[in-house]
Amino acid sequence: MTQQAFIPDPNLSTSQAERLFSGPIGTEYQMLDLICPAAAAMSKRVGGFVAGFPADVRKHPGSLSVFEIGCGTGITTLALLQSRGDLLILAADNEPAMLSQARENLSIFIEQGRVRLIEVDALSATSAIFA
Ligand SMILES: C[S@@+](CC[C@H](N)C(=O)[O-])C[C@H]1O[C@@H](n2cnc3c(N)ncnc32)[C@H](O)[C@@H]1O
Repeated sequence: MTQQAFIPDPNLSTSQAERLFSGPIGTEYQMLDLICPAAAAMSKRVGGFVAGFPADVRKHPGSLSVFEIGCGTGITTLALLQSRGDLLILAADNEPAMLSQARENLSIFIEQGRVRLIEVDALSATSAIFA
C-alpha cells in the first residue's frame, strides 16, 4: 500500500488550510483518551525530554522559555509545565475551541504567569508575538 502525502490546497489561505480542529473534533477532543490511550504517555515523554534541557542564560536566566505550536487543549503543555518548575511557555493555537479548553485546563499555570496562550496561525506568525 502506498502512502499519500498531504498536499495543501494552494488556493486556501493558511488559516483556512489549517483549521482542522474546528467543529466536533475540537469540542470533543477529550475523547482522544479513548481513541489513542498512548497520547497522554507520549505527552509525558515530551515533558521528560524537555526536563533535561539546560535553562536559558540570556533572556530569562534561571528558566527555560518554550514556544509550543499547536497546543490544542493543553495536554502536552501541562506535561511540560509539570516536568520542571522553571518552564515558561508561550503556547499557540489557531483554533478558538481548542484554546478555550486549554485556558480551563491550564488556569492555575496561567494565573502563575508560567504560560501564555495566543490564538495565532503558526504558519503566518511573526517575531512580533515573541516581543
Ligand atoms: C493534535 S492537536 C493538539 C495536540 C496537542 N499538542 C496535544 O498535546 O494534545 C493539533 C493542534 O494544532 C493546531 N494547529 C494546527 N495547525 C496550526 C497552525 N497552523 N497554527 C496554530 N495551530 C495549529 C490545531 O488547532 C490543534 O489544536
